Amino acid sequence: MKRTHTCGELNISNVGQNVILQGWVAKVRKMGGLTFVDLRDRYGITQLVLSEAFNEKLSEIKSEYVIEVHGKVIERKSKNKDIATGEVEIEVEEISTINKSKLTPFEIKDGIESNEDTRLVYRYLDLRRPEMQNNLVVRSKMNNSIRNYFVENNFIEIETPIFGKSTPEGARDFLVPSRLNPQKFYALPQSPQLYKQLFMISGLDRYFQIVKCFRDEDLRIDRQPEFTQLDMEMSFADSEDAMNMIEGVVKKTILDIKGIDLKESIQRMTWKESFDKYGNDKPDLRFGYEINTLDELFSNTEVPLFSNLEGKTIRAICVEGLLNKKELEQLSETAKQNSLNILAFAKITNNEWSGSVASKLSETEKESLIKTFNISKDSTILFGVENYEVVSKALGSVRNHVAKLQNLLNPEELKLVWITNFPLFEFSEEENRFVAAHHPFTMPSDGCLDDFDVNLKDAEAKAYDIVLNGFELGGGSQRITDPQLQQRMFDAIGLSKEQVEANFGWFVNAYNYGAPYHSGCALGLDRFCMLLTGAENIREVIAFPKNSSGVDPMTNAPDLVTASQLDELHIKTK
Ligand code: AMO
Repeated sequence: MKRTHTCGELNISNVGQNVILQGWVAKVRKMGGLTFVDLRDRYGITQLVLSEAFNEKLSEIKSEYVIEVHGKVIERKSKNKDIATGEVEIEVEEISTINKSKLTPFEIKDGIESNEDTRLVYRYLDLRRPEMQNNLVVRSKMNNSIRNYFVENNFIEIETPIFGKSTPEGARDFLVPSRLNPQKFYALPQSPQLYKQLFMISGLDRYFQIVKCFRDEDLRIDRQPEFTQLDMEMSFADSEDAMNMIEGVVKKTILDIKGIDLKESIQRMTWKESFDKYGNDKPDLRFGYEINTLDELFSNTEVPLFSNLEGKTIRAICVEGLLNKKELEQLSETAKQNSLNILAFAKITNNEWSGSVASKLSETEKESLIKTFNISKDSTILFGVENYEVVSKALGSVRNHVAKLQNLLNPEELKLVWITNFPLFEFSEEENRFVAAHHPFTMPSDGCLDDFDVNLKDAEAKAYDIVLNGFELGGGSQRITDPQLQQRMFDAIGLSKEQVEANFGWFVNAYNYGAPYHSGCALGLDRFCMLLTGAENIREVIAFPKNSSGVDPMTNAPDLVTASQLDELHIKTK
């Protein structure tokens, strides 16, 4: 290496040394007869000072040129406390250009407001920006922490196939046609679930893998068609064992990356409690504003909206402060998007009540509301009336929206919670049948082992999700290892013997050869890295992500292919 130091390395202890630096020109400023250049690389920025003698050479050098300088480290007169190298600068003796750069389509600096697709077309330039480099550095450190943890705990990393078999249940598969097997397709794995269970039957005892998974779902801020999991499975282990192992790795990674030592055990909450209080199964616990049911409180009410419930229920959250008209309109919109057409409200200030339902509230109702929500300051109560599911979900979204409006979401605060006792099944309107809520290899809870296949609505699973700041970070379960129990599970979701044989025969057969009981979990690493860096979406922590239409604007994938390629694959397009 010719360079003696990186651009983030030199400090006051290097004063007097002769150095060679190489990097990108971030900024050029002229002051009096001197020129100052900020030289940048992955490690930081170092200031160069050039005398008038370099003026002609400097006229050729522009932003983002790659240059090399030879010079002496000197102490700066005006120091910059914000950067590591801020006490020194390089008095340049020689300067040369390694490579030129065209004018970049956006500035290479943090906090730019460039259109995201432009950033993705020129992702290699976007990744030159310090905040993006930091995201990738954190991601690398996160992977490293995780690997070390599992290796220390006797897990072995085993790779699983990317070309697999399409199976029903779960999300939509990505398919890959097989040239050698006309009309047949591989499926890309949604997760290594079945392979990792087979490892347990193989006696490998403890498996982990940092692995790419693929799901053809609609994209969101925390969803990509290809994403990365930390996947693990352990033998002779029940739910508690797997949860403890995951709790350990999550805490260790947070300590390694953020320096935050989360000493207490991660809080637990049943799925029912979470849905009841927060309207979803991934509650953000950085703020309160729990949902309350008010049917009893309004049992003799004069408020028309709260009368004649007919199967509906009255639920509400109470938030601090008096929300203004614009905020209330925005929240009503969120409620509507979640099928709650009316978001009623009452504002309370110094015992004065106003708002859409306030005039009809009786004194007793007002007193009860103050007691229920423990109101002591200016507050706004937001009410919804609908069936329990709809109103809860809608108020859950309204609750999250209020937190955004009120800036309650500090990314430096990390609130973890385990959600347990998930429903074993959920009803699919699309398929008009119950489907496995997690996947069909999930163990029913002890309490419903006798009747989970007759009382599908109430059956609970030995499944658990770990939630961080309102995002589902990971999920797992104890698995079914008894073939008879597995058969009952397939029967319950209406998979015929033939369907089971055709789709999962290879897998369920393995359980006839001596399986240890086992449990596992998978963490979404894109999401974890997003939360560790405070990024706004997972695309910011993925080197080359797809945009919201599932397209990579740089390569233009997915793209058309030639007729002869299709022909080789025995495929005709519509
Ligand atoms: P699950 O389907 O809950 O469990 O996935 C585990 C975690 O993976 C992340 N994740 C995603 N991240 C980005 N984009 C996506 N499209 C996406 N889908 C999921 C989430 C999620 O919590 N095999 C089981 C685990 C097990 O039972 O052991 C599984 O895959 O953070």
